[in-house]
Amino acid sequence: MTEVITAAEQDTIILAIESSCDETAVAIIKNGHEILANVVSTQIEIHRRYGGVVPEIASRKHLELINAVVQEALDQANMVLDDVTHIAVTYGPGLVGALLVGVATAKALAFASGKPLIGVHHIEGHICANFLVKQDFQFPLVCLVVSGGHTNIIKITDHGQYLLLGQTKDDAAGEAYDKIARAIGLPYPGGPHIEQLSREGNANAIELPRAWMGDDSYDFSFSGLKSAVLNYINKAKMKGEEINPADVAASFQQAVLDVLVQKTVRAAVENGVSNILLAGGVAANGTLRDQLQTAANAHNIQVHYPPVHFCTDNAAMIGAAAHYKAVKGDYADLTLNAVPNLSFEKLLIERGQA
Ligand code: KG4
Ligand code: ZN
Repeated sequence: MTEVITAAEQDTIILAIESSCDETAVAIIKNGHEILANVVSTQIEIHRRYGGVVPEIASRKHLELINAVVQEALDQANMVLDDVTHIAVTYGPGLVGALLVGVATAKALAFASGKPLIGVHHIEGHICANFLVKQDFQFPLVCLVVSGGHTNIIKITDHGQYLLLGQTKDDAAGEAYDKIARAIGLPYPGGPHIEQLSREGNANAIELPRAWMGDDSYDFSFSGLKSAVLNYINKAKMKGEEINPADVAASFQQAVLDVLVQKTVRAAVENGVSNILLAGGVAANGTLRDQLQTAANAHNIQVHYPPVHFCTDNAAMIGAAAHYKAVKGDYADLTLNAVPNLSFEKLLIERGQA
């Protein structure tokens, strides 16, 4: 049986695994923020030739890599399995075959070592990437989570205590970036390429819609914008006209950022919150960071974000989130399973927070 350790009284040293998409990642995190090891083995180059993540290939690659990545993390930390206090893993949302590799590995490690197992929601991991950098935040906070699979505005009232203010009704912001990038011939993942190309383009060149979803809504929708950009490209093609990819990238990006920035700052103002956190892969975007900061400054609100390598998928953020669960003794047992469609709402319902 797993020994129950109340982490509040002792240091936590958490071996965390993340394998929900195309990064095989293992980190060892002390007390939620000290990074003893952080290994990310990315499959981006393998998936790039297909223009996106191929689930079957992702699971196979995770399986090939996971044991070596676990060992590399232990080596980096100069530790053996017995030195860690907990094993943590992302159990959803994500690609089922990819998640299963991480979950099965974590369960095997927990069983073999007798250490408690912690299941982490991927979005909670992204949020907690901010706590790797700074620990003395004053709650409540508002967090904009923007990644390839998610776009959420979340109010955080304490560690592990959330209120979902808004979410996308269709595509995630990162998904829209990746689809538009593909349409203008940029490689996968498209976000960083769109950001770079936008610097050479005119953000006002093409008139594109912004989905506000009603005056008081914190929800998002990006599918209409995506269709408008694809229509613009197709119409130009049919007329035999050249498009300017930099103008397309810049106009598209500005349409996304206008909505993200306006809604996030309004959420902070209306909730009396003076600190905004950014999280998820799209939070790596420098233009988003700058525009959000400028808009927030007008209301004396501070914006915080993790360094780029902690915005995109990594296991350090999973270790950070797991620390706050360990402190509460919130453990999983060996029946833990991958939940590919684990929405944030579902997590809050399970915790009685929705
Ligand atoms: O968080 P993440 O690594 O994976 C998911 O949980 O989805 O996010 C990946 C997403 C991709 O859609 C990628 O295009 C986007 O983040 N992304 C960016 C930037 N860097 C990564 N989007 C816009 N600008 C960036 N600089
Ligand atoms: Zn992610």
